[in-house]
Amino acid sequence: MSDPCQDVPAPLRSALERAGQMHVLRFWHALDTASRSRLLGQLAVVDWDEFGTLQRLAASRHEPTAPAAVDLSVAVTPPCLRLGDSTNAIPPATAQAAGERLLAEGRVGAILVAGGQGTRLGCTGPKGLVPVGPVSRANLFELLFGKLRAVHRRFGRRIPLAIMTSSATDDDTRRFLADHDHGGLDPDFVHVFRQHDLPAVDATTGRILLDAPDHFAMAPDGHGGMLVALAESGGLDWFGRHGAEHLASFQVDNPLALPLHREFLGYHAVSRADFSTQVVVKREPGERVGVVVEQGGRHAVVEYSDLSPALAAERRTDGRLRFHAGSIAVHCFTKSFLDDAASRRDALPLHLAHKAVPFLDDAGSLVRPTAPNAIKFERFIFDLMPLAGRVTVVEIEARDGFAPLKNPVGSAADAPEHVHAALVDQARRLLADAGVTVAEGVDVELDAATILDATDVAAAFPRGTHIDTPQVIRRP
Ligand code: UTP
Repeated sequence: MSDPCQDVPAPLRSALERAGQMHVLRFWHALDTASRSRLLGQLAVVDWDEFGTLQRLAASRHEPTAPAAVDLSVAVTPPCLRLGDSTNAIPPATAQAAGERLLAEGRVGAILVAGGQGTRLGCTGPKGLVPVGPVSRANLFELLFGKLRAVHRRFGRRIPLAIMTSSATDDDTRRFLADHDHGGLDPDFVHVFRQHDLPAVDATTGRILLDAPDHFAMAPDGHGGMLVALAESGGLDWFGRHGAEHLASFQVDNPLALPLHREFLGYHAVSRADFSTQVVVKREPGERVGVVVEQGGRHAVVEYSDLSPALAAERRTDGRLRFHAGSIAVHCFTKSFLDDAASRRDALPLHLAHKAVPFLDDAGSLVRPTAPNAIKFERFIFDLMPLAGRVTVVEIEARDGFAPLKNPVGSAADAPEHVHAALVDQARRLLADAGVTVAEGVDVELDAATILDATDVAAAFPRGTHIDTPQVIRRP
C-alpha cells in the first residue's frame, strides 16, 4: 500500500517522527491542496528543537522560572522611588529635568505589547480596538497613541513606537492603522512586528492538539515574545536609527499607562538603570498582581500565583505587605540591555498555563472541554529583571497610571465600568486642581493627544469654569 503521507517534506516528517507528533498528519490523506498547505504552513513555524523543551516542561510540570533565582524566604521589597516624593534619594525635580531632556533630545522610544488574545474580556480581535473613552468612545489604541502625540507636542520630538501584534491581532491592527491614519502618528515612526506562536499540548500526553483536520492549537508566546520578535523584525536596529537609547514598554489594556512620564524616565536615567519599572502599592494579599522582589541584589517579579498565601499575607511593622510592590507592566529598558538580552538564546524562561483547549477526538469530532486539558507556554518580559545589572523601581499611584481592562462587564475588578470610572476620575481630579468644577454625575475625559498634565488642563479653561455637560477636555 502506498504511504498516505509520502508528499509531506522529508525533513518535516522526520522532525515529527522524532517529536512523536505524527498524529498531526492523521487526516492528511483526506485533505485537499489548500488544507494541506494550511497545515504545512503551521508546521513550518514550529521550532522542533524548542518543541522538545516544551514537551519536557509539560511532562515535568517544572518551570525553570527566573524567580527561582530569588529565595523568597529572605527576599524583600526593594527600595522604591516615589513620584513627587522629596525624600527620594534622587530629588523629583532632578528626575523631571533629566526625563525632559531625554524626551527633548529624542532619545526615548516606546514598545506597546498588543498581541494578547483578550480571552477573559471575550475579544474576537485586538483589545486595542475596544472603545473605552468615557465620552469620545476612542479605543485603547487611540488613547495610548494620543499620549505619544502629546509628548511630541510638548517636547517637539516624535517618539518611535514599536507595536507587537500576534496571530490573533496582526491583521486587524494593521488594518486599523492603515484605515485610521496610523492613529495620528507618523508612519515612519511606527514599526509593527508580530510575535511567535507556540503549540499547546495535551496535558497528559504532550501531544499537539488538532482542532481541525488541517489545523492545530497554537497561541502567542506571551508578552516576553517581544524580545526575540522585536530583534528578529529589525526593531532594535530601527530604534537605533531613530536615536532611541531608552525604550519604555507598556501594555495595550491600560489606558492610564504612563510609560513616558518625565519623572519616571528621569529616575531611570539618573540612576543609570538597565531596567526600570513602575509599581503600585499592593494593599490586600488577594490582589492579583505580580510583585517586585529583591534578594542579594537581584530583582525579579513573582507572579501572584507563585506567592504562597502565607507569604502574600505577611505584613511589615509599618503595616504594608512585605511584598507590596505590585507590578503594572510599565517598564523602561536601555536599548543596549535589550540588545544583549536578545542575543542570549533562552534569556527568558517558559511558563506553563493550564487551559481548556478544543481538540478533535479519535472520531474527528470537535470536543470543547470545560476543564483545563492542555498546557500553553508563555514568556514574560519581566523575567529579564534578574539579568539586569541595575534595576530602579518607581512607585506611582494606581489612580494616576493603572486601570487595566481585563474582564467583562459586571466583574469584580478590571472591567469596562472600572476603566470608565478611573478615566473620569482622573479628568475630574485634574480639572479640580485647575479650579474647574464638574456637575455631579457628568462624564469628562482628558484628550490624550493634547493633555499631558495639569499645565495643559489649566490652559484649557479659566479657573472658576463650571462644566455641566459631558465633554472631552482639549487644549486648544
Ligand atoms: P494578559 O496576560 O492580560 O493577556 O496580557 P490578554 O491577552 O490581554 O488577556 P487574557 O489573559 O487572554 O484574558 C497583558 C498584556 O500583554 C499583551 C496583551 O496584549 C496585554 O497588553 N500580551 C499578552 C501580548 O502582547 N502577547 C501575549 O502573548 C500575551
